[in-house]
Amino acid sequence: MPRPWARLPEPRVFDRIVQGDANRVLDSLPGESVHLAITSPPYNLRRPYRGYSDDRPHTEYLVWLRGVWRTLHRVLVPGGRFVLNVAPTSIKDFRPIHHDLSTDLRALGYIMRTEIIWYKQTMGRRTAWGSWRSPSNPHIVPSWEYVLVFSKGQWNLPGDPGAIDITAKEFETFSDGFWPIPPERRRNGHPAPFPEALIERLVKFYSYRGNVVLDMFGGTGTVAAVARRLGRHYLNIDSSEEYCRLAFERTRHATPPRDWPIPSPVLDLLPATGPDSAPLLRGGA
Ligand SMILES: C[S@@+](CC[C@H](N)C(=O)[O-])C[C@H]1O[C@@H](n2cnc3c(N)ncnc32)[C@H](O)[C@@H]1O
Repeated sequence: MPRPWARLPEPRVFDRIVQGDANRVLDSLPGESVHLAITSPPYNLRRPYRGYSDDRPHTEYLVWLRGVWRTLHRVLVPGGRFVLNVAPTSIKDFRPIHHDLSTDLRALGYIMRTEIIWYKQTMGRRTAWGSWRSPSNPHIVPSWEYVLVFSKGQWNLPGDPGAIDITAKEFETFSDGFWPIPPERRRNGHPAPFPEALIERLVKFYSYRGNVVLDMFGGTGTVAAVARRLGRHYLNIDSSEEYCRLAFERTRHATPPRDWPIPSPVLDLLPATGPDSAPLLRGGA
């Protein structure tokens, strides 16, 4: 008898690596079906992603993401969480995009729960001092990223106490919002992958085993791989075929807990390659 919190829509919509546009694929998902979304969108900082130009006018960029957040809101369960990772922009061309994004999300009805400082400890590499040892024009070098956390409609996420896997020690450590975690050194063929340690904390802190965890700008699949390893269902969306292939391999090799046998991923590439993949991608492929 399936546990009620693990009941998933049929045909199988989750446990997939999907190539497609984030908004269009989200739009094709059933309402109130995702418990936790964790993502790091392109930051509009001219990063060299495959097949995507990360250099849009700022207003156009925000309008585009607003559409994605609106669609996500429909897809989250009541109390579902949305974790948004945003890096500070460059020093010279500074724009407070984390403020812009949190203002937009709150205007769309999300409850803002908190912000976590992901301290990347990257000061060793710094070169841009501005005016060295002078107040004339010194620079602060961002050695951190923001992890902004939102909820849909209510603060609490109902779930079975038997599906909790965080230890007391972990809970104590993670609930201090300053997270010293080094950036991912193995690039896995991507310019900006998440470190697995960051995602492990978020998945354990904000979801139960058996929940559905989504990343709609999933890159090389860090969220999907960690979610499967921790006994959560997953959906990874990215517009790049190359990144989706990497995400598929990574998630396929992530071993789920023995008592939460989360399935191996299905890979949906564009153009649709089979009857199963078509419904997800038809929305906008
Ligand atoms: C900051 S990266 C995410 C990296 C990811 N967190 C990881 O661990 O590998 C943003 C990703 O968004 C993807 N992307 C850009 N536009 C997209 C769109 N319209 N729909 C889906 N993905 C898109 C890019 O290909 C890139 O992989």
